[in-house]
Amino acid sequence: MLVLGVETSCDETALAIVEDGRKVHANKVLSQIAKHKDWGGVIPELASRLHLEAINDLMAELFKDCDYQIEDIDAIAVSSGPGLVGSLMVGANFAKVLAWIYGKDLIEVNHLHGHVCANFIDSDLEPPLLCMLASGGHTQIIEMQSYTKMNILAETVDDAAGEAFDKVARLMGLPYPGGPHLDKLASSCEAEVPAEYKFPVAMPKSLNFSFSGLKTAVLRVKEKIGDEVWERDKVVIAKSFQQTVAQTFYRKTLAASEETGITKIVLAGGVSANSAVRAIFHDKFGGEGFELVVPSLKYCTDNAAMVASAGYFKRSDTSEFSFEVYSRVKTASVSK
Ligand SMILES: Nc1ncnc2c1ncn2[C@@H]1O[C@H](COP(=O)(O)OP(=O)(O)OP(=O)(O)O)[C@@H](O)[C@H]1O
Ligand SMILES: [Mg+2]
Repeated sequence: MLVLGVETSCDETALAIVEDGRKVHANKVLSQIAKHKDWGGVIPELASRLHLEAINDLMAELFKDCDYQIEDIDAIAVSSGPGLVGSLMVGANFAKVLAWIYGKDLIEVNHLHGHVCANFIDSDLEPPLLCMLASGGHTQIIEMQSYTKMNILAETVDDAAGEAFDKVARLMGLPYPGGPHLDKLASSCEAEVPAEYKFPVAMPKSLNFSFSGLKTAVLRVKEKIGDEVWERDKVVIAKSFQQTVAQTFYRKTLAASEETGITKIVLAGGVSANSAVRAIFHDKFGGEGFELVVPSLKYCTDNAAMVASAGYFKRSDTSEFSFEVYSRVKTASVSK
């Protein structure tokens, strides 16, 4: 079954063609980052306009890249939320019109389910599994007993991990979005983190996450040591911050695994591209007693291949033309 995926939830216009949820035939991602950079974040109105301007040409490019025509597609899957409502509407209306004109099934996809499904691409992974999802707007541990039912075991009580990365990177004078830049800076540090720059791993009693305290702790260090020492030491501070986030992900995921008995672990979302996060998961879950799958780097951040994959696993006999887009997570379950 060939699914065309459509993704416009934030600042990437993305389209992909995926067979049976696992084999990618074409994948196009057009990032708007350069257009938002000067504001230090995504401007919603600008994002939706840029999606609108880009999506038709991107589709032409997508089909140029593979041997298929739109007629060969069996269904169209589109992110309906969570995300920026104006941006989501562009993708949703694009997908609805295409599906209506060409008589294709239309599948509404929860964008976060898409992030989880990035792990099914190029793998033979099967549920049950635990997903540590960390993106720009979300930080969750999700239990998947099937391909479609998402049981959210943990969430962040304040900042998302990606948001914390972006804010700390900004303190360090790195460009937006700061996560990958901070990763690069931290990875260039060979020194051990000295005691005065070590941050505690916040472990609230529940499985939930909290990153606001860590972000503030970095700010306090900056205020305490002053600009000159900060400039000298920010590389090792970046390393310490990154290691603390990675440790937190690991400890919480381990606790969730012990609680559920699930030993199949996957990562998802933009922060799962982080080198320290990937390293600790490989180190701790890559050996005996666990099975680890991590998405390839290009499927960590927003893309449409993951949406097409989620659409395939969620497929049903009825098209879903009446759905509306939404900004926040509305339900823990993605199944009908
Ligand atoms: N190597 C990296 N290390 C740390 N963070 C990273 C890395 N690469 C990307 N990120 C972060 O990932 C986030 C973007 O991820 P993603 O595209 O999954 O999020 P989003 O789509 O904006 O949010 P959501 O999926 O919650 O709506 C940004 O905060 C970015 O800084
Ligand atoms: Mg995303």
